[in-house]
Amino acid sequence: MIKICGICIIAFLFPLIVSSEMDVTIRLIVEAKGLSEGPLWDHRTQKLFFVDIWNNKICRYDPATSQVTSAYIANGPVGVAVPVDDGDEFLAGSGLDFVLVTWNGETNTTNPPIRTLKSVKKIDNGTRFNDGKVDSSGRMWAGTMSENNGDFTPNGGEFYSMDKSLKVTTQITPVSISNGLAWNMNDDTFYYIDSPTKQIVSYDFDSEKGSIANKKIVFDLAKNNLPGVPDGMTIDSDDNLWIALFGGAQVIHVNPKTGKLLNSIQMPAKRVTSVAFGGPLLDVLYVTTAGYGMTNPKEKTPEDDKKGGSLFEVKGTGARGVLPNSFTMRDD
Ligand SMILES: *[C@@H]1O[C@H](CO)[C@@H](O)[C@H](O)[C@H]1NC(C)=O
Ligand SMILES: *[C@@H]1O[C@H](CO)[C@@H](O)[C@H](O)[C@H]1NC(C)=O
Repeated sequence: MIKICGICIIAFLFPLIVSSEMDVTIRLIVEAKGLSEGPLWDHRTQKLFFVDIWNNKICRYDPATSQVTSAYIANGPVGVAVPVDDGDEFLAGSGLDFVLVTWNGETNTTNPPIRTLKSVKKIDNGTRFNDGKVDSSGRMWAGTMSENNGDFTPNGGEFYSMDKSLKVTTQITPVSISNGLAWNMNDDTFYYIDSPTKQIVSYDFDSEKGSIANKKIVFDLAKNNLPGVPDGMTIDSDDNLWIALFGGAQVIHVNPKTGKLLNSIQMPAKRVTSVAFGGPLLDVLYVTTAGYGMTNPKEKTPEDDKKGGSLFEVKGTGARGVLPNSFTMRDD
């Protein structure tokens, strides 16, 4: 166990103001070498799901036994996977496709039943799905990026939604590396990250229509002198964001309404990819990391980042998450 006292930026800048310092405990729970992403707490089974993008895997971590099982998706790299309704199916963004995967998570499998539902635009030969999430109406929102020879293609991605009738709508185009997303408790604001912009932006969200409008910048890493780029994110029950900094070795806690950096948690891996609250009380922050560069699966884990690619558990943040939604599908 590594015990790290969170740095309190606010207390540092204004020492007379009451400190909101966190005393968190960070534990490495899964040593997975790869590009781990998309942590998702499944309340129904009390398990944590995440993806291992370049190993084409959907993974399941059981906190009760510490066991990990996985499903290999022959279709291609898996950027995101979410549960479908209340059954033993996942909707995954794999390569250029939205695929339906049948897997109950109990066993390891290399050939689960897979059905392609829809495909999205190939911008270049390295276009693939990246992060995604489901909204309160059961729609999937996920975006793409393009990568070639270890670098991303600027404007090589798009951001989509897909409803239960499997209609795909292009929501934002172009984007460079479509990443973190979250909705507020009122369900009227959507937060989004296109990593290379180093910004977190908000849109007005219309849940009934499934539309976003009126983009505003709510937080800028460059303006806050923060290292790395924003990757995955989640929101807590106080409507504050928790954002993974890829290349920044930390998770930051931001109030998107005031644009204030509330706190930060230094992580023992540099390439922090995403975060999700889980556990029976939704008060455990699960953090995924990458074992190589953002775009190059061939790159070896650098000497100075030996824990990259592992899954971590952070306790003691004082915050609680909100339950993720499952994709709703009308299968006709
Ligand atoms: C699944 O595979 C992992 C990694 O090879 C192994 O540690 C684990 O015991 C397997 N689990 C089951 C249920 O077969
Ligand atoms: C895409 O094509 C380029 C040039 O033709 C090649 O160098 C690159 O490796 C390809 N990328 C992928 C991901 O296949």
